[in-house]
Amino acid sequence: MLTKKVEDICNRQIEREGYSSNLYLAMASWAENKGMAGIAGWLYLQADEERQHMLKFIKYVNERGGCACIPAFKQPPVKYKGVAEMFKEVLKHEQFITASINEVLATAIAENDYATTNWIQWFVEEQLEEESGVQLILDKLSMAGEHGLYFLDRDIMRLRGEN
Ligand code: FEO
Repeated sequence: MLTKKVEDICNRQIEREGYSSNLYLAMASWAENKGMAGIAGWLYLQADEERQHMLKFIKYVNERGGCACIPAFKQPPVKYKGVAEMFKEVLKHEQFITASINEVLATAIAENDYATTNWIQWFVEEQLEEESGVQLILDKLSMAGEHGLYFLDRDIMRLRGEN
């Protein structure tokens, strides 16, 4: 059985993972409308992964005798200044999510909840991968400049296996 504090912070994370999914959907839609099918595809896939993260939390809370709440989500931005600015936003958001996952872990430790302390490790690892994956895209973008956007859009899916 989860303690109230662990249940609450897991519910907070359900909202944050769900918002992440919607944020990347909004970015995907923006990129698709700009004709960048590769970048849109990367973001649609990322949105699916975030939905899976949300589901992992929902199922875990319910399995542990808590009550997973499905929240309302605020609307993500509709427009972005450019691709580099958008990926900088993705990195900033993932750093926020990493800090948020660390808070779930810290709460589980403080509550002597060893099962959650153990379970959350998957997310700790996942955040390392997510941050380094986005950093890789930003590095490629800064090397290539705006003229390289065509190539990034063409090749972005291959980068998923590189980090
Ligand atoms: Fe589920 Fe990208 O954090």
